[in-house]
Amino acid sequence: MSTANPPFRATLGRSVALFSAFRAEQTDPDRFYGTLARDTVAQLRSYTPLDGKVVVDVGGGPGYFADALRAAGARCVCVDADTGELRLRGGELPDTAVLGSALDMPMRSDSVDICFSSNVLEHVPDPPRMAEEMVRVTRPGGLVYLSYTLWLSPWGGHETSPWHYLGGAYAARRFVRKNGRRPKNDFGRTMFAVSAAQMLAWTRGRDDIDVVDILPRYLPVWLKPIVRVPGLREIITWNLLLVLRKR
Ligand SMILES: C[S@@+](CC[C@H](N)C(=O)[O-])C[C@H]1O[C@@H](n2cnc3c(N)ncnc32)[C@H](O)[C@@H]1O
Repeated sequence: MSTANPPFRATLGRSVALFSAFRAEQTDPDRFYGTLARDTVAQLRSYTPLDGKVVVDVGGGPGYFADALRAAGARCVCVDADTGELRLRGGELPDTAVLGSALDMPMRSDSVDICFSSNVLEHVPDPPRMAEEMVRVTRPGGLVYLSYTLWLSPWGGHETSPWHYLGGAYAARRFVRKNGRRPKNDFGRTMFAVSAAQMLAWTRGRDDIDVVDILPRYLPVWLKPIVRVPGLREIITWNLLLVLRKR
């Protein structure tokens, strides 16, 4: 029997499909981000129903995730600090987009059912502050979905990878030498080194959240224990997903 929303399964086949779609990120962003957004929404729905829920997508950029969230029945608003990113798919700024910073969210406390963010935390200079803001705007009982690329992962330096392993500043200088321009993800300016250890320590210091799940976002479920292994987790996890419930 087929259902409209089959259960989410973090299989090896799913990881292979995601990584192979990633190869088209530059040439066919609609394909990659559309695939990732549908996968992410299916994953999010395994923690909470979405129909009718008020969701804020923090750093939502061009809105692929917001589209997939709306397709799942959610009412979604994007908050992003950059109008260029919000308009990446062309056209006018949608009236569901709000210009504002993740570090000082233009929203009332306890105002949304789900606070969602994909691959933004590594782009802010104060990651715990952003996580704090996400918790603040979420209503008690609501969910925070916070996922980010780990600095020591193979993609930690984004387009300057793998040279970030020799230092972010070195990787940026090397990129400038090779390409004659600064990288979009520029270490110390638009990209920062954030670890799993830092954010896991942050969760432990909070008494207003319950940790629902911590996992490597793109990897098969049987690799989940890796997040408990200091050191190794920073490299292998790739992208850490924190699912939190506000008390
Ligand atoms: C790598 S993109 C991720 C876009 C989208 N969430 C995704 O996963 O495809 C990072 C986004 O974060 C936004 N961003 C960076 N710093 C921000 C801040 N302080 N407040 C809000 N958005 C920010 C950027 O403008 C950009 O749209």
